[in-house]
Amino acid sequence: MPSDSFTPPQHVAIIMDGNGRWATGRGWPRLVGHRKGAERVKEIVAASPDLGIKWLTIYAFSTENWKRSTEEVLGLMGLFSRYIEREADRIATDSVRMRFIGDRTRLDSRLRGLMDGIEARTAGNNRLNLTVAINYGGRDEILRATRALAVRVAEGTLDPAAIDDAVMSGMLDTADLPDPDLVIRTSGETRTSNFLPWQAAYAEYEFTPTLWPDFSPAEFAQILARYSSRERRFGGVVKA
Ligand code: FPP
Repeated sequence: MPSDSFTPPQHVAIIMDGNGRWATGRGWPRLVGHRKGAERVKEIVAASPDLGIKWLTIYAFSTENWKRSTEEVLGLMGLFSRYIEREADRIATDSVRMRFIGDRTRLDSRLRGLMDGIEARTAGNNRLNLTVAINYGGRDEILRATRALAVRVAEGTLDPAAIDDAVMSGMLDTADLPDPDLVIRTSGETRTSNFLPWQAAYAEYEFTPTLWPDFSPAEFAQILARYSSRERRFGGVVKA
């Protein structure tokens, strides 16, 4: 458990990168890395509440990931389905609320059914809010929200002058989530890759060279401790 002086971030978002390199570096197919990555997801989800985290958002499949081979895309979609099916009872028992962000219209109906089902089943849970981004892209999300706002303006039910930060935030997939305080990216890449660009405007970033399949709860705890020692000013000045 964190000590009294430890102020954990409320909302941590993670770009889980490096599964492919983890596998190919061992001469194995990329999907083996994704399978190992899914095991890491379970461990990090299990560790989060005791580390003081209330909201955990993970990037599982981006709008750009469709460019990968059919085998890899189908393999990942299968992993998401199996994760929901196999973890459902544990998620429910651990009082985890599971949600998804991203455009679901391109996902197959079976996976969508599982996503809807686990969201409904866990809607009353509050120990940890786990959000999985599938077919998510920040620009795509902002475009979908902008189109929806434009429809309201065209209908005459929304005054363009009334569109402020709160209205825009409320139109995004993350409408019910607080903004992330900390974004972690594994695998040594230092890009933000279209992940929560609106929501992470004031977030701290941590980049670790560790490949996602090797990312442990112990390293997670170290990163959180580092975060807690930083000062966030949100564009303001340090208080005297
Ligand atoms: C990025 O690594 C990872 C992904 C595109 C998939 C993330 C999926 C998982 C961690 C497993 C399943 C998740 C859930 C929620 C059950 P990469 O393939 O781009 O790695 P590389 O950069 O080394 O090629």
